[in-house]
Amino acid sequence: MSLYKGKYYLFANWKMYLDYDESNIEANALAVEAKRFSPRVKMAVFPNALSLYPVAQVLRDVDIGVGAQNTHWLDKGGYTGEISAPMFKAAGCEYALIGHSERRHLFSESNDDTQKKMEAVVKNGLTPVLCVGETLQDRRDGKTNDTIEIQLRAALQGLTLPKGRALIIAYEPVWAIGSGESCNPLEAEKEHKNIIRLVRGLLPKIEPIMLYGGSVRPDNALDYLSQPSIHGVLVGGASAKLKTWEEIIYNIK
Ligand code: PGA
Repeated sequence: MSLYKGKYYLFANWKMYLDYDESNIEANALAVEAKRFSPRVKMAVFPNALSLYPVAQVLRDVDIGVGAQNTHWLDKGGYTGEISAPMFKAAGCEYALIGHSERRHLFSESNDDTQKKMEAVVKNGLTPVLCVGETLQDRRDGKTNDTIEIQLRAALQGLTLPKGRALIIAYEPVWAIGSGESCNPLEAEKEHKNIIRLVRGLLPKIEPIMLYGGSVRPDNALDYLSQPSIHGVLVGGASAKLKTWEEIIYNIK
């Protein structure tokens, strides 16, 4: 299987699936189980913003990271309803998702927005998890690589990562997210290789940690994790149920 520095990255995007109580219940259950997880598992959860602080408190001592699902690019100001990267950092976050396809497609986030968010997240001491991926139409038009290259160029060009800060990229084909229609693992591997090549061109010294996302389930997680350029998975629906999430975790021995 493919290990990045000895670890498999299992990242749980809880989206708006879990409310405050449910997030805390799942976090507490993970904290109790954590000592049984393989030391090769590197886990992070991305709760809703209101649940983030208590979840981070519960998971702090068991080495499970917590991340924001989105962030604004400015630190402070008159931006009703927004939350900034330093605010997430102060609440216990280590990571932030940037440019998730639901943000791009349901909330009209542009490549320009992702660029500003990447800068803000890096400046404020968080590790970015940049999400990229093509729509079904892009795929039908043979534009998968073009779309991903445009997304990567916008988000990464000119970015300076402090020494030791990881860059995590999640390849999430839009048509595979929440649809039950997962991408063929060999095709995902091919796209991961392409992304690594593009990142090397944009940020020569950076080796990204590569996650696959899109309808990952207990029965297919290992098919992805056994590909050489897939270092982990970003899981939505199946991570918001403790049972299926633990089935994925216990795949890793
Ligand atoms: P899914 O979502 O696992 O429910 O397809 C993945 C994601 O959106 O990150």
